[in-house]
Amino acid sequence: MRLMLLGPPGVGKGTQAKLLAKAYGVPHISTGDILRQEVRDGTELGRQAKEYMVRGALVPDDLILAMFESRLDREDTRPGFIVDGFPRTIPQAEAFDRMLARRGLKLDAVVTIEAPLEELVRRSAGRRVCRQCGAPYNVYYQPPKVEGVCDVCGGPLHQRDDDREETVRRRQEVYRAETAPLIAHYEAQGFVRRVDGSQSVEAVLASVQKVLAR
Ligand code: AP5
Repeated sequence: MRLMLLGPPGVGKGTQAKLLAKAYGVPHISTGDILRQEVRDGTELGRQAKEYMVRGALVPDDLILAMFESRLDREDTRPGFIVDGFPRTIPQAEAFDRMLARRGLKLDAVVTIEAPLEELVRRSAGRRVCRQCGAPYNVYYQPPKVEGVCDVCGGPLHQRDDDREETVRRRQEVYRAETAPLIAHYEAQGFVRRVDGSQSVEAVLASVQKVLAR
């Protein structure tokens, strides 16, 4: 299974990608997660990427493409992958088309997930992550038992720098301007399957699996 999830920040791409990766036995490739790890590790790539991420802007294509291609070439992607957060621009999409063609690979589908803007802002602004073990929470949809404390390990919960409301709204604008045009790019290739992301996590997963079975 080679699947791409496309949709605005906060729509649930990461949440669904993790569930789908488990269901299909393939790795979840999230460029956002890889970049955040680079930032935590204090690498040169992480230092450069952080400047863009904290502003809600996209990291330049050349940095992303080299990073993504080396991830794509890891052994675990042989049976397939669920890619989330990449590509984000038309040049990235065209480069991804070429990467796949050079390897003789083809996507099975591009699933686009949509939800109303205010719901997206609420989901992103409500997200919290454990600093110690990385367990995810949401103050509106999946609150911890004790505010600010991880149920799993007792570690402190924190908010991603780019999940503050002003930055969340900026990321939504960047998505409309730079990433939404990719839907037409993949529609022209016949890959697009649309799913309503405003449903519960379980209902969105069922909808994705239904459109993939078509
Ligand atoms: P990235 O990490 O990719 O962020 P994003 O696309 O903005 O996506 P999010 O993680 O915010 O949302 P999501 O759709 O994955 O939703 P999630 O499942 O987490 O990118 C971050 C930054 O890195 C970018 O701004 C950019 O700077 C840089 N970057 C990354 N890739 C790049 C690229 N290719 N090119 C250039 N720059 C790049 O869910 C969100 C919240 O909602 C969670 O709390 C979750 O629990 C909750 N939730 C999910 N589904 C539901 C549901 N159905 N009902 C209720 N709550 C839900």
